[in-house]
Amino acid sequence: MVDNDQPDLCKVSILGRECIHCGFHLKRYIAQTVLTNLASSTYVLITDTHVAKFHLSAFQAAFDEELKLISDDKRPRFMSHLVSPGETTKSREGKAEIEDFLLANACTRDTVLLALGGGVVGDLVGFVAATFMRGVRFVQIPTTLLAMVDSSVGGKTAIDTPRGKNLIGAFWQPEYIFIDAAFLETLPLREFSNGMAEVIKTAAIWDENEFATLESRAEDITSAVQIESAMNFYAGRTVSTRSESQRLLLSVIVGSISVKAHIVTIDERETGLRNLVNFGHTIGHTIEAVLTPSILHGECVSIGMLLEAEIARQIGVLNQVAVGRLTRCLKAYNLPVSVTDARIASLPVARQLTVDRLLDVMKVDKKNAGPVKKIVILSRIGATFEPKASAVSDQRIRKVLSEGITIIPSVPRHSPIRMATPGSKSISNRALVLAALGEGMCRLKNLLHSDDTQVMMQALADLQGATFSWEDNGDTLVVQGGGGSLAVPPAGKEIYLQNAGTAARFLTTVCTLVKSDRQGLVTVITGNARMKQRPCGPLVDALRASGNPIEYREHIGSLPLSISATPSGMRGGHIRLAASISSQYVSSILLCAPYASAPVVLELVGGQVISQPYIDMTIGVMKSFGITVTRDVDAAGKKLDVYRIPGGHYRNPSEFTIESDASSATYPLAIAAITGTTCTITGIGTTSLQGDAGFAKGVLEPMGCKVVQTDTETTVTGPPIGQLRAIGYVDMEPMTDAFLTASVLAAVANRSPLQGRALVDAPLNTTRILGIANQRVKECNRIKAMIDELSKFGVRTRELDDGLEIYGTPISQLTRGASICCYDDHRVAMAFSVLATVIEGTILEEKRCVAKTWPSWWDDLENKIGLSTQGVEFQAAASPSKSRRHDPNASVFLTGMRGAGKSFIGTLAAAALGWEFTDADTVFEARHNMLVSEFVRNNGWAAFREAEHSILKELLQTKKKKHIISLGGGIVETPAARGALKDYAETCGPVVYIVRAIEEIVEYLGTETSRPAYGEAIEEVFLRRQPWYAEMSSHEFVSSTRALQESVKFSEAESNGGRIDVAHEHTIRCCPTGIEGEVKRYFEHITGICPNLAPNIQLGKRSYFLSLTFPDIRLALPLLDRLSVGVDALELRVDLLSPTGSPVERPSVPPSTYVATQIAALRQRTTLPIVFTVRTASQGGQFPDTAQQEAVKLFELALRLGCEYLDVEISWSEEQIRHIISQKGHSHLIASWHDWTGAMKWLSPEVRQKYNLAYELGDIIKLVGTARDQADNLDLQLFVRSIAAGRKPMLAINMGEKGKLSRILNFVFSPVTHPLLPSRAAPGQLTFPEIQRALHLIGHLPKEQFYLFGTPISHSMSPTLHNTAFSALGLPHRYDLLETDFVDNRITAAVAAPNFGGASVTIPHKVAIISQLDCLSEEAQVIGAVNTIIPIRRPDGIRELLGDNTDWAAMHCIIINNLKNVSPGGARGLVIGAGGASRAAVYALHRAGIGAIDLFNRTRSSAEALASSFPDDYNIRIMESLEGLGNSPPSVIISTVPASVTTTDPTVKDALQLPASMFTLSQGVVIDMAYKPSLTPLLNLARSVNPSWTPITGLAVLLEQGYRQFELWTGRRPPRSLIEKEVLAKYTS
Ligand SMILES: NC(=O)c1ccc[n+]([C@@H]2O[C@H](COP(=O)([O-])OP(=O)(O)OC[C@H]3O[C@@H](n4cnc5c(N)ncnc54)[C@H](O)[C@@H]3O)[C@@H](O)[C@H]2O)c1
Ligand SMILES: [Zn+2]
Repeated sequence: MVDNDQPDLCKVSILGRECIHCGFHLKRYIAQTVLTNLASSTYVLITDTHVAKFHLSAFQAAFDEELKLISDDKRPRFMSHLVSPGETTKSREGKAEIEDFLLANACTRDTVLLALGGGVVGDLVGFVAATFMRGVRFVQIPTTLLAMVDSSVGGKTAIDTPRGKNLIGAFWQPEYIFIDAAFLETLPLREFSNGMAEVIKTAAIWDENEFATLESRAEDITSAVQIESAMNFYAGRTVSTRSESQRLLLSVIVGSISVKAHIVTIDERETGLRNLVNFGHTIGHTIEAVLTPSILHGECVSIGMLLEAEIARQIGVLNQVAVGRLTRCLKAYNLPVSVTDARIASLPVARQLTVDRLLDVMKVDKKNAGPVKKIVILSRIGATFEPKASAVSDQRIRKVLSEGITIIPSVPRHSPIRMATPGSKSISNRALVLAALGEGMCRLKNLLHSDDTQVMMQALADLQGATFSWEDNGDTLVVQGGGGSLAVPPAGKEIYLQNAGTAARFLTTVCTLVKSDRQGLVTVITGNARMKQRPCGPLVDALRASGNPIEYREHIGSLPLSISATPSGMRGGHIRLAASISSQYVSSILLCAPYASAPVVLELVGGQVISQPYIDMTIGVMKSFGITVTRDVDAAGKKLDVYRIPGGHYRNPSEFTIESDASSATYPLAIAAITGTTCTITGIGTTSLQGDAGFAKGVLEPMGCKVVQTDTETTVTGPPIGQLRAIGYVDMEPMTDAFLTASVLAAVANRSPLQGRALVDAPLNTTRILGIANQRVKECNRIKAMIDELSKFGVRTRELDDGLEIYGTPISQLTRGASICCYDDHRVAMAFSVLATVIEGTILEEKRCVAKTWPSWWDDLENKIGLSTQGVEFQAAASPSKSRRHDPNASVFLTGMRGAGKSFIGTLAAAALGWEFTDADTVFEARHNMLVSEFVRNNGWAAFREAEHSILKELLQTKKKKHIISLGGGIVETPAARGALKDYAETCGPVVYIVRAIEEIVEYLGTETSRPAYGEAIEEVFLRRQPWYAEMSSHEFVSSTRALQESVKFSEAESNGGRIDVAHEHTIRCCPTGIEGEVKRYFEHITGICPNLAPNIQLGKRSYFLSLTFPDIRLALPLLDRLSVGVDALELRVDLLSPTGSPVERPSVPPSTYVATQIAALRQRTTLPIVFTVRTASQGGQFPDTAQQEAVKLFELALRLGCEYLDVEISWSEEQIRHIISQKGHSHLIASWHDWTGAMKWLSPEVRQKYNLAYELGDIIKLVGTARDQADNLDLQLFVRSIAAGRKPMLAINMGEKGKLSRILNFVFSPVTHPLLPSRAAPGQLTFPEIQRALHLIGHLPKEQFYLFGTPISHSMSPTLHNTAFSALGLPHRYDLLETDFVDNRITAAVAAPNFGGASVTIPHKVAIISQLDCLSEEAQVIGAVNTIIPIRRPDGIRELLGDNTDWAAMHCIIINNLKNVSPGGARGLVIGAGGASRAAVYALHRAGIGAIDLFNRTRSSAEALASSFPDDYNIRIMESLEGLGNSPPSVIISTVPASVTTTDPTVKDALQLPASMFTLSQGVVIDMAYKPSLTPLLNLARSVNPSWTPITGLAVLLEQGYRQFELWTGRRPPRSLIEKEVLAKYTS
């Protein structure tokens, strides 16, 4: 096809004119139509710069082509004008700017304006057209989906003012609206979803069929905009070249426009009907007012629609079915459906979304009639309650907007109540299949509405097996059964089952029932990516073996399947099925078996049959439809796994009520019990299969209720209010989920138990519930939750191992106004709402958590039970269960065995964070005035534990913030203490378990005496306590183990081996690692004070990680410095670790203790963040694909150990991933997907789906394909480009030799390799320098020029230092000397050059250079000297020169790392000299915490000037001579004078005499900034007088400050050991 073929169009009319023309690739058509039908002398196309980038030139070309056809004298002008993108352009200024352009170009009344762009351009240009020359003609060419379906249609034009949006404007209709859907291919996906919100809105109010298409075809529709059809010969322009998804997309757009055009035609000026298009907008706009511009209009409307639908449900006109469909549909287009969506909740402004603020904003809505608010109320999908917006009270709006809710106590208005609770899911699915296969009509009542049942119905309809319709507003499903006659779906149509497991299993057999004499007819069933991984092999095997042809279309053992139709349908006969994986296979065959051509004998083989109750349930439901299954028994009467199903047909009962969920039923029944009223629950009776059905008889009857149970119904009548009886003892093992309901009733059950039920060992008001230990590990610890929340009412309870005791209290004595935390647990919320019906003012904090099983609970409470509720707002922060992140200043508790190093680590941590350290033992000893050992001797262990616990309680109360608290090792022996700490870890702050190998502890404790001896072997104590420590802590820190000591040996071997001895002398390193560094990094990360994440990702710069592929990481330690060159993180491939130290050969799970020590070892040698990766075999690693549990355990361990990044494959179960997310604290998740097959297509819907899933789960998205040719890399780029900027960081690469280009271009965390690694982690991996060189070659990394400014500098080491680093990293930059006497115009020119990369500044320019700079770092300002210039780009693109000082930082680091065992506050520092370097020295000492500083300079006045420029709290004292130091000797000495002017030889005149008395203190650090000679007189003196002082050479400081400079310039870590080697070589030459 060529570019000027005539397109196929859909035309829509509006206001009586057919002027909306829709299609694909219309540019040429638009030019023709406009020039022909809108004759003019001047055409002005106005667009924004974004859109222009993609589409302007093509438009220009189209018009040029057409204009050529017009003769010169008649040829009109065609001009274009660009405006800035974004809402701010829609302003008075923006309008004036366009008007000025038109006037300047002498445009007259006949001008035609073309608005090419989104709603911003359309609204603005439309308004200009409405008023320019009193109105000119204009044309809308919308390029966003929102503009196509909404803003371009209807003639509303407007601009914003600072007081509000769209406040000034006019109705002005365009001449044409051209909808070219191909524009959407360049639109960011988020903008597409934004428009989909409006499309869904229109369908929701107007057209149920359209809505059904939107909800079922989301993936197809989205995939239509993820291609570049122009590159594919303008596919879609004609009907014959249109793909199915393009056709769908266009029909959806046209459908939506038609509705809007129709409404506008009837009610152009928005007096009634046109209001309907505001569905979702009353609340949506309000939310938008707070969240704009971070959250888009459509995203806010999406949330608004849901909240407004909830209002409709609350009023009782809309059912939950519709609310559920709306929710699922919006989610399918990746739209948020609640303000708790992570994309919104993470914004700081989200805190302003208070109910009052929202109601306030809503007041000014244009639709309001005076103070009454108007909202469009939906009555079902596709229809509204009134043909206009309805008035809604503030109270109702407040209720849906509130997080919390309260119930107004009263007698339920509707008593006696008769209701059903939501249906059981398992029974719903079975009944659907049977009714469809049965003969006749069946009314299914109480069907559960979920994704699963939705999908099942659609599939049965596709197979033409039955027809479905709704009655009673969706409460009843009418099934017209097809009697088992089914047909292959229309050609090409696959049955799509999403991720509905039950449907997939049941339908596999159902499809074999399709009969046909024709050959080759197949039914294809398929599902989403997740479904394609779930197993169905045993079922397929069994059906195949019995003679039904079924083929796998992709992976063996999973969907998609091709199931052939045969003349006889399902064969039947003797079927053998392996039933150990899923009972659904069994049910699938059972359900279809009656229709088989031979009677079925189903034999279950292959071990233990799983979930027998579900098989029994299937048989039970089959019986209700007229087929009786028999089960074989052996001679002894024992049941066998052989089932016989007679042939026949199901006979549909005219009505089948699906059993209600029995746990849900306990709440309305309990309300009857507590309020003295009557309630009947239908669908649950004596024949129920569910254990919780026994609640009425087992709990309510003994409490004094009247219970009547028929086969299918349960009726409860409560005694008069306040008359409930305690039960005594009740075993709730058969109905554990109902214990919460029982507990709230027991709280007010204070009358004595029925005859014979009273307990002998407890008061008469006791209800003792046992058999519920499993409830500690449900959504929350439910036993604890009940105890804590009941105590808020003043109810006393007692926790038992297997349950709890509750002591009933009269209602009148209970506390009013309790605020109940629901722990995000639906059952807690519903149980306490029972109590709230009799106790005024009770607040349930998180009302939405009921959604899991009963989304409409609060509405049903109001509408079906008859109790009024009210919304309550409370401070979100008050509920700890919400946020898993702690206050960063929350105190940290340390636990662990005695001798594990708690005090040592704790002291370091406190120093690093600037917090206070508290040792609980010290507090104890101060309180009791004796040693712990004495106390135990005098009072015994029990008394000690009690006293210790009370100290813990006190510490928890009094030291909530900024303390590191070390606890006694035995604190875990008391359950209450364990509980308190566990709670602390869950809700308040970190509890860190300090881990140390037991042998070392034994060795260490051998010398210790102050603590009481253990009464038993310490190893046994350790074994007992270890699980407790682990259980009650949130984190762990490996303090010291043999492995670590060895790891230090490993690395020492490197630093001495091969290095000339003199090296050590010259360059005492300021080691950034070591235990101090590790402790600091760890505690800053886990508290969140400063998470150790890769800054380059945040800054939007390129970032890299190196994959460590060693089986034992200690092998890497000596190489680590070289390996980590340039990278931002190190990836630990946990699946490649092996305790044997040799490479892993078969997939296996490494032991967790090994993994923990490996991480600890790595931690001691690097400060880089760790990426913790467990790569499965199917994704290219060595971890078993099936070991999901083990992987989760390892991830938990990684988080406990403070690993910063976790690479989690999105193929793991979503539930498990969400669990990991809930624990992740300040670490980040990389949600990853790897395709090794090469089958993955970047532009396919599958990848989009993967992306969406990864986006939802991860902080970083990682998608890895395999390239077969370069086109795959181009596709990848197109994919990346289709994703809106500003979304989460994404790593997208192709593996393989041909994928290298994608690795080079990738931005986030590109994986790199290194020649020293044992193996590449993936094929095609490049090294860091290789990538940099490639980037330079292709123009992404221009060469920059760096300088050293100063004089004399010809001997400087700096060029060697930096140029070595540049070349090692593969960077194209150069570092040269620029020697000048003054800061003159050569320097000015150098820094102004566009390729200026940065400069070092040395003597004598450190102060004078400041005049050349734009800004200074805080440190440089205080010091008053600059040694580093960094060019930075401001957000507006302007370059600025920043002055910084790295001298101080180098000295500071050296001081704190070498000043061991000295508390700096009490120490003194000495600075010799008063030049530029001494200023940095003074500052470094002060920042290191040195309390007082002595300053000596030969010229006293310079010293005085220097001292007076620092604040008083530096405590600077000017020294007359160095001799005078004797009384207050220094711990740190820094000399900044040339070595040549100093001496230790008393005979030398005219030199500074260095006295030995300077080194009186036993330890200290001495730094000589002079670096020639290497050992200056000062350092030599120190060595000879006091060898325990640490001498630091000037060269060491030079290197240190240079490394920092390098990092500031490049954002990369320099290769330290390599630089050291090169610099030393130059130095010594
Ligand atoms: N008049 C009405 O009836 C009406 C109705 C709804 C909304 N509006 C108005 O519409 C405006 C919002 O419109 P919008 O959502 O289209 O925003 P927009 O116009 O700001 O466009 C969104 C972004 O997408 C870019 N873009 C547009 N088309 C593109 C394409 N094909 N490829 C790549 N990038 C593209 C734009 O440059 C912009 O950055 C608001 O001002 C709103 O008030 C008006
Ligand atoms: Zn809108």
